Amino acid sequence: MGRQITIRALKFDPQSAVSKPHFKDYQLEEIPSMTLFIALGMIREQLDPDLSFDFVCRAGICGSCAMMINGRPRLACKTLTSSFSENVITLMPMPSFPLIKDLSVNTGEWFAGMNARVESWAHHKKEVDITKPEERVDPDEAQSVFELDRCIECGCCIAACGTKLMRENFIGAAGMNRAMRFLIDSHDERSDDDFYELVGDDDGVFGCMSLIGCHDTCPKQIPLQGTLAQLRNKMVKVGKAR
Ligand code: SF4
Ligand code: SF4
Ligand code: FES
Repeated sequence: MGRQITIRALKFDPQSAVSKPHFKDYQLEEIPSMTLFIALGMIREQLDPDLSFDFVCRAGICGSCAMMINGRPRLACKTLTSSFSENVITLMPMPSFPLIKDLSVNTGEWFAGMNARVESWAHHKKEVDITKPEERVDPDEAQSVFELDRCIECGCCIAACGTKLMRENFIGAAGMNRAMRFLIDSHDERSDDDFYELVGDDDGVFGCMSLIGCHDTCPKQIPLQGTLAQLRNKMVKVGKAR
């Protein structure tokens, strides 16, 4: 027989005139390799069909299931209940994003805005001749771009960021990571100066307090600490030269 655990989930429907934020406890028997996603699925099937949370891939790929698990942003589908020695696991929706209901937040709108702000596509004026082989890319550069391109837009780094809580329009680690991904990509002809126009202010790199909560919580282990430092150094140089 497995351990008895309590999943304590925040419930609140901001669309309802009568709903008030409150915690609800659900008792479950832990099963081998049980993730928080499995636990939430069991709760919804057996105990509370009204409990709202998001998921798509169940494999740490889509970024939908991020939530605060015992006070820290994590992916529910990649977090084992057995990783917590305590018998009560507390779930809350991520801060910094609009609440939809219970554990479900709207990250999509924020990420769409961030991608628009950093103009998240390769800018180039070259005509592409699709009858010719693609231009070769330096393997080290390709690897570096791939590394930063692994972001699944889960929002954990944004939920972990104190600056984002204080500064509504702060671009966050995900935004700086996205800018850096295109800055190092030779397909993108934008200069450091062009990127300064996008992220060279207090809502961008100069608002970051460098406490690296983002780096510590990224479930994809994207090297945010080094990426943010590199971007800041480049933007400082551009700023000094102006
Ligand atoms: S290092 Fe910057 S982006 Fe990361 S959590 Fe701190 S303030 Fe936010
Ligand atoms: S950088 Fe990491 S934590 Fe932030 S959104 Fe991307 S995958 Fe999630
Ligand atoms: S359900 Fe896709 S990352 Fe968890």
